[in-house]
Amino acid sequence: MISITLIGSGNVATHLYNAIKNCETIVINEWFSRNLTQISKYSNEVSITSDLQNLKESDVYIIAVSDDAIEDVSKQLPFKDRLVVHTSGSVRLYDIDMKHKRGVFYPLQSFSKDVDLEFSEVPICVEALRKEDFNTLKTIGEALGCIIHKVNTNQRKALHLAAVFANNFTNQIYRIAHEICESQSAEFDILKPLIKETARKIDDVSPYKAQTGPAKRGDKKTIKKQLKMLDNEMQKDVYELLTKSIKQTHGQR
Ligand SMILES: NC(=O)c1ccc[n+]([C@@H]2O[C@H](COP(=O)([O-])OP(=O)(O)OC[C@H]3O[C@@H](n4cnc5c(N)ncnc54)[C@H](OP(=O)(O)O)[C@@H]3O)[C@@H](O)[C@H]2O)c1
Repeated sequence: MISITLIGSGNVATHLYNAIKNCETIVINEWFSRNLTQISKYSNEVSITSDLQNLKESDVYIIAVSDDAIEDVSKQLPFKDRLVVHTSGSVRLYDIDMKHKRGVFYPLQSFSKDVDLEFSEVPICVEALRKEDFNTLKTIGEALGCIIHKVNTNQRKALHLAAVFANNFTNQIYRIAHEICESQSAEFDILKPLIKETARKIDDVSPYKAQTGPAKRGDKKTIKKQLKMLDNEMQKDVYELLTKSIKQTHGQR
């Protein structure tokens, strides 16, 4: 049985807690939050604490706090030579204090505390300095039913950057699409089958092959008309930049 101390009580920590509590081979030994009220509702299931200086001894300490706080929290941990990992896509493994055995357990998904997801479908990118620590993290991920990917820091940072494009930027584009529909009282819901098919399609073909639309075809008149329809300067800029990017990728001028 691998015992885990969970540090933080935000989106990732809450999903990790809910996934781990159903596992037979790993256990949350203790859950830390600087604000106990965030986790007090779990106090009859797990030992909770807001005292970083008196944490119980566990096999692994998972720091799932804001990126900027990881280094400081790892420094404050009052012990050494135990396995301490963070869950960030962009923070260096070396930002964890060197008194610890260090690693990264980065779940590549978009987590919101109040939105359920199937944790076993989340790919976990794992980094560790020592083979035996990697194996411990792999065992934890596999106990959760996840696929484990051994990555180095540059690969993890690239995956995180790619995820910003694939998730955050795409979602912002949905937002713009929503605004454009609203401006003419058209229903955004009518676009949902298209949105779903666009995501589904990349299971079968590459993003390069999946591209369609006026920029890929080089339909200059349509592009001109659509740009004229946009009176929001920011939306115009986004349209022009993405059109330029698609044209360049597909050899249109
Ligand atoms: N959300 C995602 O989709 C996602 C996906 C993969 C990886 N990650 C990574 O997972 C980590 C946590 O992200 P999250 O989305 O769960 O963040 P979050 O929901 O904003 O929660 C952040 C947590 O950090 C705590 N915290 C912040 N500063 C602290 C400090 N100085 N000392 C102690 N605790 C502190 C917060 O406590 P308070 O509530 O008291 O402020 C809160 O519990 C980040 O490294 C993030 O990059 C996030």
